[in-house]
Amino acid sequence: MIQRPRGTRDLLPPETCLWQAVEGIAREVFGAFGGEEIRTPVFEATELFVRSVGETTDIVHKEMYTFPDRKGRSLTLRPEGTAGVARAWIENGLGDRSHPLRLYYLGPMFRYERMQHGRYRQFAQIGLEILGADTPLADAELIAAMHEFFVRLGFSDLVIHLNNLGDPEDRVRYQEAIRAALAPRRAELCSDCQRRLDENPLRILDCKVPSCQAVAADVPPMDAVAGEGSRGHVVRVEAHLRRLGIPYVRNERLVRGLDYYLRTVFEVVSPALGANTVLCGGGRYDRLIADLGGPAIPGVGFAIGEDRLIEVLPEAFRESVLSRPKLYLVPLGEAAQAAVLALALGWVREGVPLEIEATGRSLKAALKRADREGFRAVAIVGDDELQKDSVSVRDLAAGSQTSVPSTELPRWWHELIGRPAEGR
Ligand code: HAM
Repeated sequence: MIQRPRGTRDLLPPETCLWQAVEGIAREVFGAFGGEEIRTPVFEATELFVRSVGETTDIVHKEMYTFPDRKGRSLTLRPEGTAGVARAWIENGLGDRSHPLRLYYLGPMFRYERMQHGRYRQFAQIGLEILGADTPLADAELIAAMHEFFVRLGFSDLVIHLNNLGDPEDRVRYQEAIRAALAPRRAELCSDCQRRLDENPLRILDCKVPSCQAVAADVPPMDAVAGEGSRGHVVRVEAHLRRLGIPYVRNERLVRGLDYYLRTVFEVVSPALGANTVLCGGGRYDRLIADLGGPAIPGVGFAIGEDRLIEVLPEAFRESVLSRPKLYLVPLGEAAQAAVLALALGWVREGVPLEIEATGRSLKAALKRADREGFRAVAIVGDDELQKDSVSVRDLAAGSQTSVPSTELPRWWHELIGRPAEGR
């Protein structure tokens, strides 16, 4: 038996309906804010992620799927989407388009992570990037679009954590401040953090090991070291959020796991998933495109972990998607079998979602199945019905049966589901 690789999943129906519905709402909401979809390759030159996500981050250090292709070029399955978007912006000369550009993407990402709940080696992200605007308004718009997406799904308990990561100049000073504060306590840090102390002390603040968190608690907040530019920027973002009534908390410990961020960073956590499981992360990255060899184009974006999102979807949304009404079309006898596809095709064209009984079940067995599978109604076609050009329709909620002309079936159906289904 060949099994799927560790950390991957098969997404099966009916759960895939939830994925489609969520993705549809993402397209709708982000599209309504002027977003356009971008699709970049699933693998890129390894160098792209090393230079953008950062050599000393956990992602690049130990989580990338990196392999040589047949010509020996080093390629990596994308661990995130922003780097590819930035590369595509430069490579396709998107600078010629009017800015800001709002680009969204949906698709699989790959990280070699230790398996645990909500953590996969192939997972899907839904991301949005706003390129070419450096104002606090752009950050707030991005967060508002994200918030609106969550609201449409029925979330009401998500918490946005927000912080100022400073400008790169501030960060140099901050790294030094952390190093100075923690060097005397080196022995108390985990082995990863001892390495981080030399290479990228900021990353220590992100360590999940409790003893490291305890030591890191003594480090002064970034905001204390940050210059006026970044502090003023984030204060204005916060003012926008307050005006919109979007709840957030200022979290001085939030540093994010990728190196390209500056100024605004944020994460969304769900009480259902626990504080350590993040549903969405994002922030501003005004130097990324320039660092990759392009012009100085600012950017801000986020990515939502779709697997985790599906896991904590509000029950009402789940229910509304999974209980979409369907008609069960049952042909009885040879002649009906021969005619049923043409009938079905005509009805499908008029927007009737249906399933044909194609295994030759008896009427009794079909009705039993209809009940078990939660069909809204059954349409029965036998010799009698064929002769009269009609169809016997059974409303399973009401338990009633009537006959309608076959051309009238779509109208009957739409009236039926317009009515609240009794007893279901
Ligand atoms: P990130 O925080 O690394 O940011 O990932 C974003 C989200 O992807 C996480 O909050 C989480 O929900 C989900 N995620 C990450 N790793 C896994 C995993 N192994 N299994 C399941 N879900 C996972 C980024 O990727 C940035 N590119 C976001 C961004 C866009 N920043 C600016 N623009």
